[in-house]
Amino acid sequence: MTGNNLIFYFSATGNSRHVAQCLQMANGGILVPMDTCLLEGQHKFSVDEACSVGFVFPVYFWGLPTIVADFIAALQLDGTPQYTYGVTTYGTSMGEVRHQLRKALGLKGMGLDGLFGVRMVDVWTPMFDVSDHDKCLKRTTQKAEAQIDKVALQIEHHEVGSRHWTELPHLLAQLEYRLYPKARQTRHFSVIDDRCTGCGLCARKCPTKAIAMNSHKRPFWQKSECAACLRCLHHCPHFAIQYGKHTATHGQFVHPSEIYNA
Ligand SMILES: Cc1cc2nc3c(=O)[nH]c(=O)nc-3n(C[C@H](O)[C@H](O)[C@H](O)COP(=O)(O)O)c2cc1C
Ligand code: SF4
Ligand code: SF4
Repeated sequence: MTGNNLIFYFSATGNSRHVAQCLQMANGGILVPMDTCLLEGQHKFSVDEACSVGFVFPVYFWGLPTIVADFIAALQLDGTPQYTYGVTTYGTSMGEVRHQLRKALGLKGMGLDGLFGVRMVDVWTPMFDVSDHDKCLKRTTQKAEAQIDKVALQIEHHEVGSRHWTELPHLLAQLEYRLYPKARQTRHFSVIDDRCTGCGLCARKCPTKAIAMNSHKRPFWQKSECAACLRCLHHCPHFAIQYGKHTATHGQFVHPSEIYNA
């Protein structure tokens, strides 16, 4: 694919997609979903010298979601962009995204010229409670709009972005990132049978194709590991999917813009 500015994004529950769409509206460019590219084996892109390339995605366990790491590892970019940046959405801490993104891009011969963060609702509901939607929307989603506008301007001016106070040193952050493989084990998932209508949405939306439907129209996990993105849990129309013991009381959340993208 050739084009002007490229905005690669991954989003499980809509926060990062909303940010990517706002950046596109502000500065132009082509939105490219990293999960779809991985599934379809689309890795080749080309850019002109005057172009910028952005990566917009959520922080997972203080580092990169596997989908982002895998996409960058597979990326074949023809041409050298004038400006390469990352924008990460996060709930509490950006962890060591700067370190991991720089390293991943470095292996592809690319630099990281700017990094920015936008604080949004934390959708890791094995730990965080999103059941009070008004609170979530007021506290983070609405406040995020001003941050997104600022980041769009910084990107337009090819700024470096200042180090955020929630960024952590590699030695500390890697301890948390080591927990990610365990969290990715699909044995943590369960389905509340009498809530599930067998619509198959979870299987269709899973970015790693870890879910399939059985002959009784019930989802099952056909892979032992997935990205742990919780897209299935948060998008299920009947909140039938659970992860571990605590998600049942912590509610579901998708960014308000997701309804227009469904
Ligand atoms: C598996 C997983 C791990 C997460 N880890 C972190 C984290 O380490 N730090 C943080 O601030 N937020 C963390 N979050 C919250 C997300 O980064 C945040 O909600 C993000 O905006 C979700 O983006 P999306 O809606 O585009 O998928 C995590 C969420 C998930 C699903
Ligand atoms: S999205 Fe929910 S209701 Fe639909 S098949 Fe999956 S678990 Fe069942
Ligand atoms: S099974 Fe659920 S959590 Fe795992 S990758 Fe698929 S949608 Fe994401």
